[in-house]
Formats: sequence, C-alpha cells, structure tokens
Amino acid sequence: MARSNTLFACSACGHDSPKWHGRCPGCGEWNTFVEEQRSAAPARGARRSTRAVRPVPLADVEAEAVARMGTGIGELDRVLGGGLVPGSLVLIGGSPGIGKSTLTCAALGNLAGSGRNVLYVSGEESAAQVKLRAERLGPRALQVPIVAETDLDSVIATIEQERPDACVIDSVQVLYDPALSGSAGSVGQVREVAGRLMRVAKERGTAVILVGHVTKEGAIAGPRVLEHLVDCVLSFEGERERSYRTVRALKNRFGSTNEVGVFEMRDSGLVEVQDASARFVAEATHAPGSVVLCAMEGSRPLLVEVQALVAPSELAPPRRVANGVDRNRLALILAVLARHSGLRLGASDVFVSIAGGVRVEEPGADLAIALALAGAAKGAETGAGQPPAAFGELGLTGELRQVAHADRRLAEARKFGLTNVLHPGPGLSTLGAALRGARALQAA
Ligand code: TYD
Ligand code: MG
Repeated sequence: MARSNTLFACSACGHDSPKWHGRCPGCGEWNTFVEEQRSAAPARGARRSTRAVRPVPLADVEAEAVARMGTGIGELDRVLGGGLVPGSLVLIGGSPGIGKSTLTCAALGNLAGSGRNVLYVSGEESAAQVKLRAERLGPRALQVPIVAETDLDSVIATIEQERPDACVIDSVQVLYDPALSGSAGSVGQVREVAGRLMRVAKERGTAVILVGHVTKEGAIAGPRVLEHLVDCVLSFEGERERSYRTVRALKNRFGSTNEVGVFEMRDSGLVEVQDASARFVAEATHAPGSVVLCAMEGSRPLLVEVQALVAPSELAPPRRVANGVDRNRLALILAVLARHSGLRLGASDVFVSIAGGVRVEEPGADLAIALALAGAAKGAETGAGQPPAAFGELGLTGELRQVAHADRRLAEARKFGLTNVLHPGPGLSTLGAALRGARALQAA
C-alpha cells in the first residue's frame, strides 16, 4: 500500500501520528491535531557512514566568554541575563497590543544607535505602519532597516546578505516556507521557520528575536518544540488597559529565569520603571483591604500593593477572583484563615488583586494577602500613618514560614519609609499573632 503523504500533528506538543486523534496521546490536550504534509523519508537501504567521536572532559572544553550586546533597555537586558547573546534565539510571547513590537523595535533602534547592524522583519504590519510606531519611539528607532516579508526563503536570504548582529522576526507565526504545505502558523510551518532561523542564527552569529503570539490560555501559540528549540523564552505580561507591563524569562540558557523587568506604556513607547517600588508604594491606598507586600522579583526586591475586597455574596458558591496571584494559593489562604483564625468567608465574594497589574508568584505573598483579606473583612481603617506591610509564607497549620531574602525585603521597605513590616521571625510565628500584630499597629 502506498504511504499516505499526510500525517497529523498536535499543535501543542508537536506529537505526530498517521491517524487523527481527538485527544493528543502525547500531551493529553483536546482538539489540537491538525493535518500536515509528511516530509520525504530517506531512501530505503541508504546507510549513512558513522564514526565514533572522542569524548572530552568538561574541564578541557574551551568556552569563550560571550560578549553580550546591550539593548540599551536596562530592564530587558537584565531579564536576558545581561544583554543579547550573539547567535542566540530569543522567543518573546505576549497577547496582542501588549507592546512586543514596540519593545523589539526600540531595542533594535538602540542597537543601531550604538553602531550595530540590525534588521527588522515585519510580517504582520506594513513598513508604513512600523514607521508610524517608530516615529513615536524617536529618531533611533527610525534608523532601523526594515523588510516587510513573510516568505521564509526571502527572509533567510536577506539575513545572509545583510548579516545583521541582531534581527527581529515579527512574528514567527506569519512567516511561511512555500515548500511546505501547511498554512502560516501551522505546527509544521512554525517548526520549520524556527529551525531554519536557528541554523542561520548560529552560522552567522546573529541574535534572532522571534515575536510569538499567545493562545487564549496564555501559552505561546505553536508547538512546544518551539520553546525547546530557542535559547530563551520571554513572556510579556500585563493588562492592555493598564499601563504597567512586566517581562519575565520562562527559560534562559544564558541567565537566570527569576528576573523581571517592569515597564510602563507611555505615548513615547515603553518606559523602564526602575523604581517600581516607589511607584507602587506611593499609589497604595490606606483603605481597609490594602497591604504592601515586600515581594522578590528574581534578585530584586519589589514592593507592591495587595488589595482585597470582601462582600456579601448572592451566589453559591461565592466568587473567588484572583488577579496577579494564584487562585489555588488564594483558596489555601482562605482555608487557613477560616480554620486557624475563625475568619469564615464562605458566604462572601472575595476579590484579591495586585495593584498595577503585576503578577506575584511566590509563597512569600501569603501573609500580605491574608492580612489584606482580614482587613477587608473587618473594614478596619489603617489610619493616616504607614500603610501596613508584610511578607511571609503561610503553612497549612496556620504557622508562618520564613521566605528567602528577608533582609533584602526589609531593606527595600525601609528605603520607602515602611518600618513596621510584619514577617515571620522569633516573635511572630503564627497567622494569629500576625493578625494581632496588624491590629496593634492600626491602633497605634
Ligand atoms: P504593539 O507594540 O503594537 O503591541 P504588540 O506588538 O504586542 O501587538 O503596541 C501596542 C499598544 O501600545 C498599542 O495599543 C498602542 C500602544 N502604544 C503606546 O501607547 N505608545 C507608543 O509609543 C506605542 C508605540 C504604542
Ligand atoms: Mg506587533
């Protein structure tokens, strides 16, 4: 029987099979199988000659120090681990309108300004549209050479001819290889586009930044293989309507994945927010339900405001809304409050959010969330003094647990005039004690 020319591949994990499946046997996702063209199989009986290679002790491996290229955007450089590494592939994902094109265009503008050879490949917008954006970003961005092209072969040929130090592909989902059958953005296409760009990046030493779309669930669209292929995956987050944006590394072969960059979208593009803590503390309300959290974003302490609202519910089960914090974490904190502090919110709607649209994903946020919830439930005014501030993890038995970098969190709080920070320590080991401490501070 002739071999069928098509096969089916999962658009989430890249698993392929000759048959269509409703549920991917590879990753268990539903409705992710799409039809694809099979690539030519090697001729039967053709044998490649192979030879053994001699292993080398790691100590003898020569590793040249990589000279990184600073993008002139400090927050971005930090997340990248100190700048762009020549020959590396960076994938930056984020929802539409978050500012991916703005950030990458500004970065190229700065690189061009410092004498680097750059290239912006726009597949989504026309050159005129990109120019309009660059006009807002300033004269450096206007220096960036652009090609508006979606044909992968032309893009590769252009990179080989222009030999840029850094190149932005906006976006990886719109490029297509005419030799493959799938439409642009299909599993096969995205994999091929990224694979060929990687080869040219490594050969020419070009740092390639791939802009990627995200799905409704927030994952980068296209097969997971894309994330395995690239050296660095950055996620651009924030709410479109809000001005604060954060960039964090989900994967980084050349740096830490803990770093976060904070930006603000202004009329003149994305502006770095270097003193994010100062902004967030100044904006903190002193109303019940507001607590300043001394968080760590990677190696950097960051003060953010946790806000909670507790209101009588008309629904069963009542609403549990978490913005910027994990929903399961909120459920756990509510359970600990109910069990160990007698604060039962089973008949109330509960909303918790981190002001400014920042996401905090660390257990150190627990205590501040618990205090905000308790404050919101009691409706106690915090007075005109310092806003309450806290950090620490909550254990299931109502105990407070130490979190990393307590000294740096406290130092950051002191820097902004917050001297009464509730945190786990010798005098404070339970949630109950922390709640009493918070009340005492309010009364003072
Ligand atoms: P954009 O970079 O086009 O987003 P993406 O490429 O991620 O889809 O930026 C989108 C938004 O940013 C757009 O709604 C307009 C706004 N914006 C500003 O507020 N100021 C600016 O200087 C620029 C360039 C964009
Ligand atoms: Mg864009």
